[in-house]
Amino acid sequence: MNRRKFIKTGCIACTSIGFLSTMIQSCTTVKYSTGTLNDNGILIDVKDYETKHGVRNYVIVRHDDLQFPICVYKIDEHKYSALLMRCTHQGAELQVAGDQLTCPAHGSEFDKWGKVTQSPAAENLRSFPVSITGDKLFIDLRKQV
Ligand code: FES
Repeated sequence: MNRRKFIKTGCIACTSIGFLSTMIQSCTTVKYSTGTLNDNGILIDVKDYETKHGVRNYVIVRHDDLQFPICVYKIDEHKYSALLMRCTHQGAELQVAGDQLTCPAHGSEFDKWGKVTQSPAAENLRSFPVSITGDKLFIDLRKQV
């Protein structure tokens, strides 16, 4: 194998490994939970953030009685950010990409605190207070942060 072919083969192998690593990582970081809905809010397990190799950044709560899912970011051991995944521009459902939420309709973007980082949306996302009770997180749907 000559030098040029060796470099070309090595680059393809490294790119493939990097791509697979990213795919595996993204697959393991997305966790969906239905939670337990009551009159005041929804409960999810703190364990939902645990993975084999560490901690997830967020959990997406999808429940039949909720019109839109809620993305719950783990900021640290005691702080979470719960965001309604409804775009404030025209109401499309958002997609989560790492530390930001993006709108497939017209491209608005929001950070993990729900703050608009890319227009056309002009208002921040609706967010809810999160409290920790033992091994559960309570997302209070009655209030808005
Ligand atoms: S509905 Fe989200 S950017 Fe328009």
